[in-house]
Amino acid sequence: MIDIKSIRKSFGSLEVLKGIDLHIDRGEVVSIVGPSGAGKTTLLQIIGTLDRPDTGTVQVDSVDVTSLSQKKLSDFRNRHIGFVFQFHQLLPEFTAIENIMIPAYIAGTSNKAARQRAEELLRFMGLSDRANHKPNELSGGEKQRVAVARALVNSPPSFLPTNPVARLTRKTKKSCTSSSSTCATSSARPSSSSPTTSTWPASPTAPSRCATACWCRPPLWVWPP
Ligand SMILES: Nc1ncnc2c1ncn2[C@@H]1O[C@H](COP(=O)(O)OP(=O)(O)OP(=O)(O)O)[C@@H](O)[C@H]1O
Ligand SMILES: [Mg+2]
Repeated sequence: MIDIKSIRKSFGSLEVLKGIDLHIDRGEVVSIVGPSGAGKTTLLQIIGTLDRPDTGTVQVDSVDVTSLSQKKLSDFRNRHIGFVFQFHQLLPEFTAIENIMIPAYIAGTSNKAARQRAEELLRFMGLSDRANHKPNELSGGEKQRVAVARALVNSPPSFLPTNPVARLTRKTKKSCTSSSSTCATSSARPSSSSPTTSTWPASPTAPSRCATACWCRPPLWVWPP
């Protein structure tokens, strides 16, 4: 469950988020859509505890994450949130399977269990044969799929991908969003006029897997109305 209230965020004089309210229940899939530069990644990073709002509150699984210390926040993020960065951010010196296993190690999972879970996710992503390759030996889409697997390795209650699923197959995309209990995705506006790639090509108006879509730049709208 994600609950944010009156979130404001500025970078210098640039006011990016001007009082955002959003509630996402367990099992709900929400897509945040808007043009490039609208503030989608900024909002997702705040929900994902990677950045703090200037004002407003962020609750994830009923915990007020804005009040946690850095140490508690790291632990909370590891267990509760699966974040996929806009640009995968895989560690170059580790193989695909090692990248996926690292958050499991941090959570205290045994080597055997972490490897089993990573192998399962690699199979699910169609990447079993790329397990022992480092990121510079993977294609862009393969890197994104490894990043999705890494985000899912600890089975987090919340899954927060930023523009990642454009490169997933339709079947994998559906499984990813339905395998986590809460899903907020940031994506560009699914329209040909959008300067960034549409994450959800299935529908011209709103992501087909999403119950709700929020337009980041005023006027903020929710889909369906
Ligand atoms: N650390 C920062 N310092 C200054 N400005 C920033 C910073 N991060 C983001 N911005 C600016 O804030 C605005 C929102 O950025 P953000 O990355 O959230 O956009 P976005 O909606 O995710 O765009 P895209 O679809 O291109 O990924 C942009 O104008 C961006 O240049
Ligand atoms: Mg972005």
